[in-house]
Amino acid sequence: MVSAGRPYFLTTPIYYVNDLPHLGHAYTTVACDVLARFMRLDGRNVRFLTGTDEHGQKVERSAQARGLTPQQFADEISGAFRQMGRLLNISNDDFIRTTEARHVRGVQALWRELERRGEIYLGRFAGWYSVRDEAFYDESELVSGPNGTKLAPSGADVEWLEEENYFFRLSAWQDRLLAWYDAHPDAIAPRSRRNEVISFVRGGLKDLSISRTSFSWGIPVPGNPLHVVYVWLDALANYITALGYPEAENNEFSTFWPADLHMVGKDIVRFHTVYWHAFLMAAGLEPPRRVFAHGWWTVEGQKMSKSLGNFIAPGELVDKYGLDPVRYFMLRELPFGSDGDFSHRAVVGRLNGDLANDFGNLAQRVLAMINRNCGAAIPEPGAFAGADERLLAEARGLLDRMRPLIAEQVFHLALETIWRVVAEANRYVDEQAPWALRRSDPARMGTVLYTLAEVLRHLAILTQPFVPDAAAALLDQLAVPSEARGFADLATALPPGRSLPAPRGVFPRFVEAEAAAG
Ligand code: MSP
Repeated sequence: MVSAGRPYFLTTPIYYVNDLPHLGHAYTTVACDVLARFMRLDGRNVRFLTGTDEHGQKVERSAQARGLTPQQFADEISGAFRQMGRLLNISNDDFIRTTEARHVRGVQALWRELERRGEIYLGRFAGWYSVRDEAFYDESELVSGPNGTKLAPSGADVEWLEEENYFFRLSAWQDRLLAWYDAHPDAIAPRSRRNEVISFVRGGLKDLSISRTSFSWGIPVPGNPLHVVYVWLDALANYITALGYPEAENNEFSTFWPADLHMVGKDIVRFHTVYWHAFLMAAGLEPPRRVFAHGWWTVEGQKMSKSLGNFIAPGELVDKYGLDPVRYFMLRELPFGSDGDFSHRAVVGRLNGDLANDFGNLAQRVLAMINRNCGAAIPEPGAFAGADERLLAEARGLLDRMRPLIAEQVFHLALETIWRVVAEANRYVDEQAPWALRRSDPARMGTVLYTLAEVLRHLAILTQPFVPDAAAALLDQLAVPSEARGFADLATALPPGRSLPAPRGVFPRFVEAEAAAG
């Protein structure tokens, strides 16, 4: 059924293997996972791609420092990223590594196509390069560092580089890029990033060096193996090589390209909206439909960095707070696109407030009352009163309110929209006081509890993309069969009479270790 839907292709950046996974990688990946799950539940034919970026001087140097070959080193760290995916319950359909044969072949084919179209020439490069960013910088972009040194705008070290390089005729694409951005107003988000990209391109584009000769850990340039392909041309191509490019007919490429969404961090927007679009257009391919650049997390108010020792490993977070609370927090706390701070206090606030108190308690109260007072089965409702109808209408309207928010990646508002109904439902419980109806009007109690169970079913189905395990546990407790949990099933109300298992809490409170000990 699902594969019959309209295709939806989304990607995370592929992660450099010079470092172990941390909070930043987890964030991008979880955001994509939420989208992939949402679209699948909404009947789309989803292809969700992630992977690792394994070539380049940075990886070569990190491997040397560990006394490993680059391939051994890449194997090890790529494995850690796959492990991160399992840990975070990521539902990717594919995982690409740039050292795989399918990718190498595709990159070389793309190179040849660009060459055939006259987009590549051999020249001499002299300029600044940052190995950490794997990026070339103009003198005018550099900032001054300590003791008169020069640094990249990102703060990374730069080195002077002079070598024979192949160049891509980026300068020739300025007008066509601007025309494309103009014709596709939603293709770069949020708006502030789009403006940034447009003003960068308006400022003029220089031809881009796309090969290197001073190291060898990369994909050999077809026809001139003294050169390896520039790591960003290599890396960006993963989005098409994973779909089988250069084969382009009757395959995944023809089904899924152009991508619906490349999710990236704000630091790599230029690569994904200027260079990538120019490469694609130059090769006669369509640019992706949308690139969304999210913000960066600081940790307890500080930049995450190895030297500060505040690198957060995804595993630590999951051990401490549980997986679903971490997923929820990441997407609820920040307006998606803005920067924000990851603090213990903020996580505990969300966990004990939104999850344990608001949603968890609602579910627990309703399920416990049904268990105790309705023979542990979904009660038969009588005629619905105005208050019941109003609450049910709120729940039934949720999906339509969420779709445009998810389509624009405003996750925090999508969650806020759901939690408004959680709050309404809690108010309704207090007003209707079903516990008091048990003696005075048991039939009315049945209608109230039925209404609440049906609202809970909506809430659980719609929160699945964000908190998949907790939502599944809740749906189990409502005895909703696993094949009736898609968004299309929202329209079919809970059948009365179904027996329910014993209720158990799905969002436990976080108790501070010291407090628990004392
Ligand atoms: N390999 C390139 C991407 C190539 S895609 C064709 C790369 N890799 S990375 O591992 O350095 O970064 C991957 C992502 O992690 C980026 O989107 C980056 O923005 C994100 N983050 C890194 N640190 C972050 C935070 N502190 N907070 C949020 N996201 C951050 O770039």
